[in-house]
Amino acid sequence: MRTILVTGAAGLLGRHVVRDLLAHRHTVRGLDRHRADEDIEWHVGDVASPELVAKAVAGADVVMHIAAIPNIWSGDGQTIMRVNLLGTYTVLEATEAAGIKRLIFCSSDSVAGYTVREGKMLAPRYAPLDLDHPLLATDPYAISKVAGEGLSRAFALRGMSVVALRTVFVAYPDMAGEIVARAKDPDNYRGPMVGGPSSAGGGPLHHHIDPRDLARAFRLAMEMKMVPGEFERFYLSAQVTLSPEPTLERLRRLHGGSVEVRNPDVYARQPFAPLYDLTHAAERLGFVAEYDQRHLLAGLPGFS
Ligand SMILES: NC(=O)c1ccc[n+]([C@@H]2O[C@H](COP(=O)([O-])OP(=O)(O)OC[C@H]3O[C@@H](n4cnc5c(N)ncnc54)[C@H](O)[C@@H]3O)[C@@H](O)[C@H]2O)c1
Repeated sequence: MRTILVTGAAGLLGRHVVRDLLAHRHTVRGLDRHRADEDIEWHVGDVASPELVAKAVAGADVVMHIAAIPNIWSGDGQTIMRVNLLGTYTVLEATEAAGIKRLIFCSSDSVAGYTVREGKMLAPRYAPLDLDHPLLATDPYAISKVAGEGLSRAFALRGMSVVALRTVFVAYPDMAGEIVARAKDPDNYRGPMVGGPSSAGGGPLHHHIDPRDLARAFRLAMEMKMVPGEFERFYLSAQVTLSPEPTLERLRRLHGGSVEVRNPDVYARQPFAPLYDLTHAAERLGFVAEYDQRHLLAGLPGFS
C-alpha cells in the first residue's frame, strides 16, 4: 500500500485515477484548484505554488502529476505555459526535495504534433508512429507537454524515475454525445454541441482511450520496475479509433502518399488500429487497452 499525491485530482481524469487507486487500497491525496467528492485528503490551490505543493507531497511515496490546462481552448498561451510548465516544474522540484523517487507525468499524444486541426498541424512522417518519431508540436498546449517531458527527463537524470504517459483523447462517459454528434456529421462538427465538457477530440484519426484503461496505466506506471535516473514514455490508446475510415485509407485521403507505412501488418490485422505504435506500452508497461467506444457508432451512416 502506497501514499500517492494526485495533482488535478478533482478533474475528469484525476477522479478516475483516484477511484482506481482507492479501489486498490492505496492512500490518496488530491491537489487541485477545488476539491471533489472523493473522501481523501485535499490540498486546494494553485499547482504552481511551491508552499502548497511542498505540503502536499510531504510523506508521499509517488506523485501522479495530472493537473494542467488540458487543451488550447481552455486557456491562452500565457496561461497554458504558466500552469503546465511552471506547475510541472514546481511539482518536480517539490517531489525531488521530498525524496520521492517516482513521478508519473500526464503527457499527451499531442507531443507528436498530430492532434489539433486549427494549429499548424504537420502530417506524421510514418505509421505506426513510435518513440523515434520526431516531436512536431506546434500549438501552445502541445508545446507545454513537450517541455513538460523535457523537465521530467531532467529530473530523472538527477536521480528520480519518471514515466510520461502520452495519452490520446480521453473518451469520458460525458463525451459520448459529442462522439456520436461528430460521427453523424464529421465535416461540420464544431463541438461541444450536445453538452459535453469539451469537443470530441483525438485528431484527424479520432483516437480515443477509455478513462478506466488510462487510470490502470497510471497504476502500472507506478508499479513498473525502474532504476533511478530512468525516464520512460508510452503512447497510450484504445486498440481501435473512432474514425469511419480504416486508418491507412484515412491517412492516404488526408495526406496523399506522404505517410510512410512501416508496418502494414498492424493495419492488416486491425484496419482501425491507431496511428501510434502500442508495442512498447504492451511490452514494458504491460498495458493493453481493454475498452473502446466504437459500439457508440454502430448503425450510424458510414459506420459498419
Ligand atoms: N482530456 C483529454 O482528452 C486529454 C488528452 C491527453 C492528455 N490529457 C491530459 O490529462 C490531464 C487531465 O485532463 P482532464 O481531461 O482531466 O481535464 P480537466 O480540466 O478535467 O482536469 C485538469 C484538472 O487540473 C486542475 N487544474 C488546472 N489548473 C490548475 C492549477 N493552476 N492549479 C491546480 N489545479 C489546476 C483543474 O482544476 C482540473 O481539475 C491533463 O494533464 C491533460 O493535459 C487530457
